[in-house]
Amino acid sequence: MRIGIIGAGNIGGNLTRRLTALGHDVFVANSRGPHTLTALAEETGARPVPVEEAARGAEVVVVAVPVKAVPDLPAGLLDEAADGVAVIDTGNYYPKERDGRIAEIEDEGLTESRWTERRIGHPVIKAFNGTYAQDILDRPRPAGAPDRLALPVAGDDEAAKAKVRALIDELGFDTVDAGGLDDSWRQQPGTPVYGLRGGVAEVGKALTEASPERPADFRA
Ligand SMILES: NC(=O)c1ccc[n+]([C@@H]2O[C@H](COP(=O)([O-])OP(=O)(O)OC[C@H]3O[C@@H](n4cnc5c(N)ncnc54)[C@H](OP(=O)(O)O)[C@@H]3O)[C@@H](O)[C@H]2O)c1
Repeated sequence: MRIGIIGAGNIGGNLTRRLTALGHDVFVANSRGPHTLTALAEETGARPVPVEEAARGAEVVVVAVPVKAVPDLPAGLLDEAADGVAVIDTGNYYPKERDGRIAEIEDEGLTESRWTERRIGHPVIKAFNGTYAQDILDRPRPAGAPDRLALPVAGDDEAAKAKVRALIDELGFDTVDAGGLDDSWRQQPGTPVYGLRGGVAEVGKALTEASPERPADFRA
């Protein structure tokens, strides 16, 4: 598949590594421009592009930038993506440490991915947000392996969600359907599933144990 990755840090960089290794055609962008991505391009074969071009023709787009940077993404970012593009949001809202206070999240009680979806003007699928970036490289396992990790996946567009779940399976992980985007508080920072290294049953149980109240460490 043609895949656009926006953000080439911990999570975007490692997804670039694995998705190119699987044979996907990866276009990757950061904030400083393609000339700063030559090492990653040489290592992986991914094509560095300006952020405006990252989603062009893409069947899957990954948004892997800090939440505070989402409003800086160019308008019309997804206008030239392929029909039916699945947009993965890996983001976590860290108001105290990184992102600052975002009023709509705090006051309206929006899930952070719903906020991101509104900012970019396209439905998103929340995935990878609670996965250690290093585990994307170190923990892929074949289907059926007893120590295969599972990732929760939330979103409203069932076709896009199915596409994302199939891609995660190809990356070497199981998935658990975590519901629609308004349910995605169950996998936000501070919840039992966030950072949990477990299989399908453990992840499913952790999702049910989440509290809808945003933990104090993740409020501002
Ligand atoms: N680290 C993890 O293990 C992990 C795991 C799961 C989810 N997450 C979440 O995923 C998101 C990204 O985390 P990260 O750790 O990968 O961050 P990171 O290492 O700081 O990388 C952020 C990337 O986003 C790029 N970026 C920032 N502003 C941009 C803009 N306006 N346009 C295009 N690119 C922009 C940066 O480019 P420049 O360097 O050029 O500025 C950099 O490549 C966060 O919300 C984080 O909470 C992280």
